[in-house]
Amino acid sequence: MQQAKRLSLIPPYLFGEIARLKRQAIAEGKDLIDLGIGDPDQPTPDEVIAKLGEFVKDPSTHCYDESSNGRVEFLEQAASWFKTRFGVDLDPATELLELIGSKEGLAHIVWATIDPGDLALVPDPGYTVIKVNTLLAGGSVYEFPLFPENGFLPDFDTIPADVAQKAKIIYLNYPNNPTGAIATKEFFEKAVAWARKYDVLIVQDCAYSEVNFDGYKAPSILEVEGAKDVAIEMHSLSKTFNMTGWRIGFAAGNADAIKALNTMKSNVDSKAFAAIALTAGWSLHNASNEESLALIKRRRDILIDGLNSLGWKLEKPKATFYVWAPVPPGYTSVSFAKTLLEDANVLAIPGLGYGPHGDGFVRMSLTVNGDHNGERLAQAIERIRAGVKISW
Ligand SMILES: Cc1ncc(COP(=O)(O)O)c(C=O)c1O
Repeated sequence: MQQAKRLSLIPPYLFGEIARLKRQAIAEGKDLIDLGIGDPDQPTPDEVIAKLGEFVKDPSTHCYDESSNGRVEFLEQAASWFKTRFGVDLDPATELLELIGSKEGLAHIVWATIDPGDLALVPDPGYTVIKVNTLLAGGSVYEFPLFPENGFLPDFDTIPADVAQKAKIIYLNYPNNPTGAIATKEFFEKAVAWARKYDVLIVQDCAYSEVNFDGYKAPSILEVEGAKDVAIEMHSLSKTFNMTGWRIGFAAGNADAIKALNTMKSNVDSKAFAAIALTAGWSLHNASNEESLALIKRRRDILIDGLNSLGWKLEKPKATFYVWAPVPPGYTSVSFAKTLLEDANVLAIPGLGYGPHGDGFVRMSLTVNGDHNGERLAQAIERIRAGVKISW
């Protein structure tokens, strides 16, 4: 078998050494505290599972979904949820599209918009799906840096005009993985004005919109007046209701982008399992994520307070599962992650894996398997205190 040449365009996996050390630690029976995985460790709420049991018995969910853009009840419920949550009106027939998780939507919007030679603008550091699919589609990427001093928001003024003119799409992701950064509505206003000026489609990834703490509520870019002219936003139930394995989400916004994405998708997949789509629509209005969020917040507080007691000066992220911690002097992101693993049995992800500007950081996730009340995070801190050489 000869695989397509395009697969060789996928950037190399940067965590080889860390993955090897993880396997070794587990094989040696070490008690690893894994802060690497960004996947909710808590189960999907019981009421959601019960509801799926009901919808699964409806034979109309057993066939191909032949609707144009997804199960109508789901799209209508997504529209009314959007109105309540963000104050934005969406037409379920033209401005919403069912997705098999937001990752699927991110990948396929690239294939629906990028021709060979086209340019996509992506953040560094960033979640890599748009970048990798752009390369696979024969396009190229311009990576714009995210700096802590700008709150990990891009500075549109530093994107050269010729780059902006050439770009077809720009990927934004707030609340952000891996940095935990959040965007204000004012930032989204700037983004929309910039995209309008250069005729670029904004792909805003809102997968973490409901993972909020301390009373914060993440905005949608679609709250900005005129945003629908230039933006499509990806939403997901994965992180909201601990449903990563269910594979359900939706795209919202610009009708032309929704239509192009739908054309692409209808030649690739046959929509989500309708029982899951119906359960998702029900969940948006009826399920609660408060208990899970309270646990994540408890872990966040223990981890941040603990790291700060070791000399870090971290603020508590207002959204996402992630703590983006600068590495202490003398380390790279890889050498620090390696030291954490070898000397403290704590696994964190080296920031370099998210782009060159991630190299001064490690990502620690708050979705920790086997943690009941923050005790594993407290243990991680004590192990770092005892085992890892840190001088600021
Ligand atoms: C920023 C970001 N976007 C999208 C996704 C994909 O989520 P989904 O399960 O909806 O495909 C993830 C998953 O980790 C993510 O971190």
